[in-house]
This record gives sequence, C-alpha cells and structure tokens, in this order.
Amino acid sequence: MTQVGFYGHVRQYRNIQPEIDANIQRVLESGEYVQGPMLKQFEQELAAYHGMAHAVGVGNGTDAIWLALMAMGIGHGDEVITHPNTFFATAEAIWIAGATAVFVDCDPKTKCIDPARIESAITPKTKAIIPVHLYGQCADMPAVRKIADAHRLRVIEDNAQAIDAAGADFRIGQLSDATSVSFIIQKNLGTFGDGGALLTNDAGIDATVRKLRNHGSVKRNVHSFGFNSRLDDLHAGVLSAKLKHIHAWNDQRMQWAARYTAGLERATHLELPHARPGYRHVFHLYVVETKLPAERDRLLDFLVTHGVDAKTHYSIAIHQQEGFPWGKGARIVGSVANAERNAATCVSLPMYPELTAEEVDYVIARVMEWDKAAK
Ligand SMILES: Cc1ncc(COP(=O)(O)O)c(C=O)c1O
Repeated sequence: MTQVGFYGHVRQYRNIQPEIDANIQRVLESGEYVQGPMLKQFEQELAAYHGMAHAVGVGNGTDAIWLALMAMGIGHGDEVITHPNTFFATAEAIWIAGATAVFVDCDPKTKCIDPARIESAITPKTKAIIPVHLYGQCADMPAVRKIADAHRLRVIEDNAQAIDAAGADFRIGQLSDATSVSFIIQKNLGTFGDGGALLTNDAGIDATVRKLRNHGSVKRNVHSFGFNSRLDDLHAGVLSAKLKHIHAWNDQRMQWAARYTAGLERATHLELPHARPGYRHVFHLYVVETKLPAERDRLLDFLVTHGVDAKTHYSIAIHQQEGFPWGKGARIVGSVANAERNAATCVSLPMYPELTAEEVDYVIARVMEWDKAAK
C-alpha cells in the first residue's frame, strides 16, 4: 500500500544537504554556538527578507509572543484579544505574560480572526490584539490595524505558520508592532528542533527583547530581570541555508494546494480551504472540513487506514480543553461557533514541498473514495 507521510523534513534535508552541512560545519569550527556570528548573520537575513528593521532570535515561537507582550509592558490586569481555533501557544503566551486571553470568533471561511467580532470585546483593559496567520494565510490585517488605531491598541502578528505569505496590498510586519515567527521542525521554515524570532521596526521592542532573552544582559556580568530564550547558532545556520529556498518551497506548496483543490472540488461531503483573492496563502496546512462533525473521524480513520497520515489542526478549541482556563484570566465574547465548528470538522492532508504528484494524486483518490461512500 502506498504510504504518504505528513512531514517532509528528511527529504528536504537531503535535497539541500551540502548547504545545511556547510553552515553547521562553519558554526562548529567557529567555536561560537550561542549568540555568535551565525545568529547575527541570520537575524540580519531574516529582517532583510521581511523588509523590517530588526529580527531577534529567541528559543521558540511561543517565547517570541510573550517576550513581545512583556516588552510592550502588557501583563497582569491587561486583556489581549485573539481567537480560540489557533494553536494553543497563542493563548499560552498571553497567560505566561500574565494577561487575560479574550477569545472572539474566527471568520467562517478563512478561519483567521473575524475583525467584525473584535470591537465588542474591547474594554478599558484591552491592550493588544493577536491575529494569527492561520494555516499559511494572512489575517485581515488592514481591518485589525484600523480597529487597533481607533482604540490605541498594540498588534502582534502570530506568524508561526505563514512566513513568506502576504496580503493583497500589505506585507507581514507592515501593519503591526511586532511579528512572531516559529521555526519548529514542521513549519514552512523549520530547523531540526525548536527556534523562534521576533520581527519589529520598533527599536525599543528590539532592544528590550534582546536583553530579556539573555538573562537581562547585553553586557557581560551586567544584568536585570530576564530569561534564557536564545536561538542557538546551529539552528541559525540551518535556517540561514533554508531561508534562501523558502519562497520557491512555498510556491511548490501552493501548486500542491491547487492540485488538491482541483482534484477535490467535486467532493460533496467536504468544504475546501478558502484562499482570499489577491492574498499569497502559503499553505502551511491544507485543511479540509467535513460538512458534518460526525464525518470527521470517519474520514481521518479512512485515510490513516489507507496509508495517508492525515491529522487535525486543531481538533479541540482552546476554550474547550479540559480544565480551561486553569486559573488564568480568560473571557469568551459572543458566539465562537465558527471556531468550534472548525475544531469539530477539520482534517489536514499531507502538505509539504517535497511531496510528489503521485502522492498528492493518491491522497486525492482516497479522499474521493471516502466521499463517494459517505452517506
Ligand atoms: C499559531 C502558532 N502560534 C504559536 C506557535 C508556537 O511556536 P513554538 O512551537 O515555536 O513555540 C505555533 C507552533 O508551534 C503555532 O502554530
């Protein structure tokens, strides 16, 4: 039986092995593994890639968010608005910063935050909005920025999933105060472990996060309150090699997404991903939804049984996790039915540049086989 895996990072490594190995070798020979020259080089490359003034490498994408909140002075007693069908870490970062997470619904089509729901959630305690570029597609940043400006709020883009994506007439980073990035293995730009970064044009946020990530220190033996959350130079070397390929890799993801969509558009039991006109959706994930929640696990089981490693992102909305909110501050404003439906019906099909046409077609054939048999 054909087997189609969910991840392609080993294939990706083999495809550009000499470039990655050369950078790893360079770091090993340099003798500088933490905050060394390779990190500095990668931070400069990442900032330039985004057309931003600053990029600070940190331990992971979650830390990037709460370090940004902390650098903005947002914490206890403050509220931060996001949506509940994102990866858990978005809310977790708000709680780590000590703030209250306020959840509003997502847009029924894009699954990103619905800007029309934000204003009713704003109180005098609201300090920031965290839109998530979910599945590889930018949230409606112009609408989010407009609301933020009207209420003097900060905006942090959670861009763990959409590096190199863009809106119809805006770039990532352009309409926010700071943008977090995650480099964990499976991300479009992933290293062989954990990593993250914060992008900003604000020199104050850059300087504060730079200090916070390194035990509150920018000078040997001189400290203030801080943490240890740095992007190791070995990871920076891997990422520097991969950054040169990210645009082409994302183009390939978009081609596989188009092939999936063409092959699945006749399915009667599924909703296919919605790409907003003019947006560059880089398909970190290709997520279909079953029309009925009861069909989701049936589709998932069918695919797994037939060799397709499908998964769910994310099958339990944050506010539906057991024990929510664990004594932390949380509010749900209005109906979050779209987010709950997304959690109940989502299925992610294998999506990575290194897939082959045969694999994509095999997945399409199995999904259509299930669709035909489904009642
Ligand atoms: C939307 C989103 N936010 C935040 C994170 C957290 O990133 P990390 O795992 O690097 O901490 C992730 C990924 O893991 C994510 O998908």
